[in-house]
Amino acid sequence: KLLSVTLLGAALIAGTVQASDKESIRIGVDVPYEPMEYRLPSGELTGFDIELGNALCAEIGIECEWVVQGWDGIIPGLMARKYDAIMSSMTINPDRREVVLFSDPYFTPPSAWFAPADSEIEAAFKETLEGKNIGVQRGTLQDNYATDRFGDVANISRYATADDMVLDMEAGRLDIVFLDFPVGKSTLLDSEANEYKVVGDMITEPKKYFGDGFGIAFRKRDEELAKKFNEALATLKENGTYDKLFEKYFGQ
Ligand code: ARG
Repeated sequence: KLLSVTLLGAALIAGTVQASDKESIRIGVDVPYEPMEYRLPSGELTGFDIELGNALCAEIGIECEWVVQGWDGIIPGLMARKYDAIMSSMTINPDRREVVLFSDPYFTPPSAWFAPADSEIEAAFKETLEGKNIGVQRGTLQDNYATDRFGDVANISRYATADDMVLDMEAGRLDIVFLDFPVGKSTLLDSEANEYKVVGDMITEPKKYFGDGFGIAFRKRDEELAKKFNEALATLKENGTYDKLFEKYFGQ
């Protein structure tokens, strides 16, 4: 009796999330970040992350309950147990690894600079960005990189959501924005008007910023939970579910 009470106490103190104990898992996500996570006109959440997350949960045998959270507070929200995981196009990089536990990467897109099609900026360097208005989403790796690299020569505007940034770009208040490539492609390039262009090369280095792809983040002690997601991800990659979703969102 005493022993079992002690064990229960230990489990409570450890406070780990046991996927098998619960019917659902709460996952934090920042929207809109099209095509990764966004709302349909009906209000329903969709996107590559949402559909992949739902498929992972189905494979594990639990339900995903999505919790919308601003990007700025998305890691604090995980720590405060508002949710048990983050699936929000979060890049696995060394700084974040100090704080959270990541799943295996599920998608590895580059970052890219986007500017109006008639912009004279042809490449993103200190000389070409001097005095320019750069837009980034606050707290993203794109923010960190642009701030460290160009903060002393350019004017950096930091937005709470990627959408606010795109709106300011459309209103002509920004010269250039820095985004995960698929998001810039979907929100800026895929318009009939052809109003925007990619500036320079796709960016994947240095790893300190651009890391190793998007991962699902967990609290550090939730190794069991992370393992379940990694196993489910491997299964969905094997059985074609992953490829189907990939084709749906990123196929030509
Ligand atoms: N991949 C970038 C990062 O990890 C940006 C992700 C922003 N995600 C979002 N849902 N707004 O910093």
